[in-house]
Amino acid sequence: MANEPKAVGNKTGAGAGSAAGQRSGAGAHSSIGRMVIDARLATSEEVQAVLAKQKKLRDEGKDATVSELLVKYGIVTATQLKRLMNPADDSMSQSLQQIPGFQIMQRIGAGAMASVYKAKQLSLDRIVAIKILPKRLSEDPEFVARFYKEGRAAAKLNHNNIVQAIDVGEYAGYHYFVMEFVDGKTVYDILAERRVYSEKDALSVIIQIARALEHAHARGFIHRDVKPKNIMITRDGNAKLADMGLAREAGDEAAAEAEKGRAYGTPYYISPEQVRGVKDVDFRADIYSLGATLYHMITGRVPFDGTTPGQIMQKHLKEPLVPPDHLNPNISTGLGEVVERAMAKDRNKRYASTTDMLQDLERVARGEAPLQAREGVADSLLKGLGAGEVDETYEAGRADGAARASSNPALIAAVIAEGVLIVILLIALLVK
Ligand SMILES: Nc1ncnc2c1ncn2[C@@H]1O[C@H](COP(=O)(O)OP(=O)(O)OP(=O)(O)O)[C@@H](O)[C@H]1O
Ligand SMILES: [Mg+2]
Repeated sequence: MANEPKAVGNKTGAGAGSAAGQRSGAGAHSSIGRMVIDARLATSEEVQAVLAKQKKLRDEGKDATVSELLVKYGIVTATQLKRLMNPADDSMSQSLQQIPGFQIMQRIGAGAMASVYKAKQLSLDRIVAIKILPKRLSEDPEFVARFYKEGRAAAKLNHNNIVQAIDVGEYAGYHYFVMEFVDGKTVYDILAERRVYSEKDALSVIIQIARALEHAHARGFIHRDVKPKNIMITRDGNAKLADMGLAREAGDEAAAEAEKGRAYGTPYYISPEQVRGVKDVDFRADIYSLGATLYHMITGRVPFDGTTPGQIMQKHLKEPLVPPDHLNPNISTGLGEVVERAMAKDRNKRYASTTDMLQDLERVARGEAPLQAREGVADSLLKGLGAGEVDETYEAGRADGAARASSNPALIAAVIAEGVLIVILLIALLVK
């Protein structure tokens, strides 16, 4: 276990399928490297291998560009590269040029499920972002129905910390989601640049996102995909939660495994119940993912790492969480406790509402001890003792659970009482 916060290290690996890339300190990939990974044309490992090769060649006095090497080693074709660097060439942007009422300006990003474009909404003469779903999703009527229902409902939400959903529509067989354009970066980008957040900066972002979630949860929305890539920071430091109300593809473990992390975002922040595929996923899944995002921000590491999505998901289910303060000794005990409570594997042991979590986050930000996080710890220990057993989920959730339990006064009292009883029994036997 490292005592020092580790570098997140690259701009591309995380979420693109590479758990190793998430932690590698190899430095930022070139922008072309990032683009091919974002477009799912290459894995982070492939790009890293190309960068290593480029460095080796340079040491030998030979120069080669990343693009040249990507093509040379058969990772992408020259045509794919050309299309990627000039998105106006691709057939999708060509068809979209004609979405009535909008003028597509440029592609600003691509995720596992869709591409995002900057566009001008002509009627209101304003800049918006349009997320375009791939055609394959149009073939799933259930998905399309949900996409419209959730998108329209989300457009009614209005909160300073939520990327405003504006409209949903379809053109030339493409379904699209129009939203507020955020001029800024994602937390994912910032993590890639500067390794870890200070406690103060992380709290400022997470408190804003917790407010966004509190607002959404109160209106019956569950986000289901809270993660650094879905938190945008505006130029003036406001945090905004993106993709609220965006219907998600049902993804089970088998599908994720089959895709090998290429087309399916790697599940670094997914709640255990989502891994299990429970039907009644509720707001507590967002609390877990918010906790996992906070974990990454303050430690520079994802909570669970692995080489395949399946492996990472298994760890969300079973592996004890390394307490964040073990990875970064600079963070307060209180903050560590909040993260652990939010990330309890059993959702009944998490915060009972986003408002509760928000209160603890605000207390920690003021330098006070969290209330609920501590109650959670005490409750689960006492409950375990009452039932004659130690709470397994709680124990599993803490790598150092045993060490902390041994300093619990109730436990010490129980051990002393047991000792006294044994002595009395021995005396009774001797007297006989
Ligand atoms: N409203 C927006 N304004 C400006 N840029 C945006 C907006 N929404 C998304 N982006 C940019 O587009 C990129 C792709 O977004 P998208 O939601 O498709 O994928 P993602 O959230 O990054 O990842 P994944 O597909 O793995 O969930 C984001 O990383 C962000 O940089
Ligand atoms: Mg997103």
